[in-house]
Amino acid sequence: DKGEFRHYMLKEIYEQPDAVARTIEMAVDSDAPSKLRDDFLQRHEALLKGIKQVQVIACGTSYHAGLVAKYWFESLTRVPCSVEVASEFRYRNPVVVDNTLVICISQSGETADTLSALRDIQKHTPAGLVSLALCNVPTSSLVRETDIFLPTLAGPEIGVASTKAFTTQLAALMLLVLKVGAVQARMTDEKLSTLLEKLQALRGQLHASLHLDAPIKVMSEHFEYKKSCLFLGRGLQFPIALEGALKLKEISYIHAEGYAAGELKHGPLALVDKDMPIVVLAPKDSMFDKLKANMQEVHARHGELFVFASEESKMVAEDRMHVVYVPEVCETLAPIVYSIPVQLLSYHVAVMRGTDVDQPRNLAKSVTVE
Ligand code: M6R
Repeated sequence: DKGEFRHYMLKEIYEQPDAVARTIEMAVDSDAPSKLRDDFLQRHEALLKGIKQVQVIACGTSYHAGLVAKYWFESLTRVPCSVEVASEFRYRNPVVVDNTLVICISQSGETADTLSALRDIQKHTPAGLVSLALCNVPTSSLVRETDIFLPTLAGPEIGVASTKAFTTQLAALMLLVLKVGAVQARMTDEKLSTLLEKLQALRGQLHASLHLDAPIKVMSEHFEYKKSCLFLGRGLQFPIALEGALKLKEISYIHAEGYAAGELKHGPLALVDKDMPIVVLAPKDSMFDKLKANMQEVHARHGELFVFASEESKMVAEDRMHVVYVPEVCETLAPIVYSIPVQLLSYHVAVMRGTDVDQPRNLAKSVTVE
């Protein structure tokens, strides 16, 4: 039931504060917010203790969640992490070394490529292999075929475009990173408790970012007749740029590409002209100054910038530059909050263009064939 909402997608966007908070509560009690619950993945502690690297396998939006997890695993725990789309991984005879944690991320748990990639690895059984399903459907094939099940508590997702599944995947991945960091003693108690406390703030920050709906709707009017669009981000925001581009092309049928902003001058800058909208994810983080320089490169070539920034960044709208301020959030968790504006933008553009938002042409919710 869509309730008061015009589309399932919009309803699901609005469900994110609760869905993310529910997912976090699996691992943290609100009355003891600075430590992981004893029972969180407790049965699997011995397995998680033994892993030496992580391989993430997934498709589409779930793959983008994996890309964020790579930044988190490597920067917070120093456990090496590779991420690959399942349809490539399964056909290239990959090397999976001993003591690998294979994380399969899938909303449905029935994606054919992800399942096949998992089965191929299991056939070769490297020593110390641990498989984990990060999945929204407890009864799915993926959950049945893996050692560990880490649920996302998003509730059923009806819209083909993934929204709350994505942000709950990110929340659960952060919990997993913290658990691995804790059992392998790769993270100080202080670091762990700071991040856990910041996770508690997410519900409020996600709520606040839903208030951006109105200004983003105004922004979306500039996209109605566009043919092509770039999304830029750096660091933890690069996967969100990819996700923003995927959302826009999937439901509005406008061609869009996500780019690591540092790659601009290695090719895509040639595309930039006054007709090219460029969406930039610009929190005031450690990459902000570099990103600003990238934005100047675009601006100098008359590209029109649509910037999601923090107020702290002091970015102000000017000619050919539109700014929407996103609520303050720490750098590590910013990808979760910055997902909301890109979802809202693609939603409003699609509605304006009159597409079938919940059921875009040529796509299925669950891709059970290769
Ligand atoms: O069910 P899964 O998470 O395995 O699905 C993977 C992709 O098909 C899915 O994320 C797809 O990219 C979404 N429709 C994007 O919004």
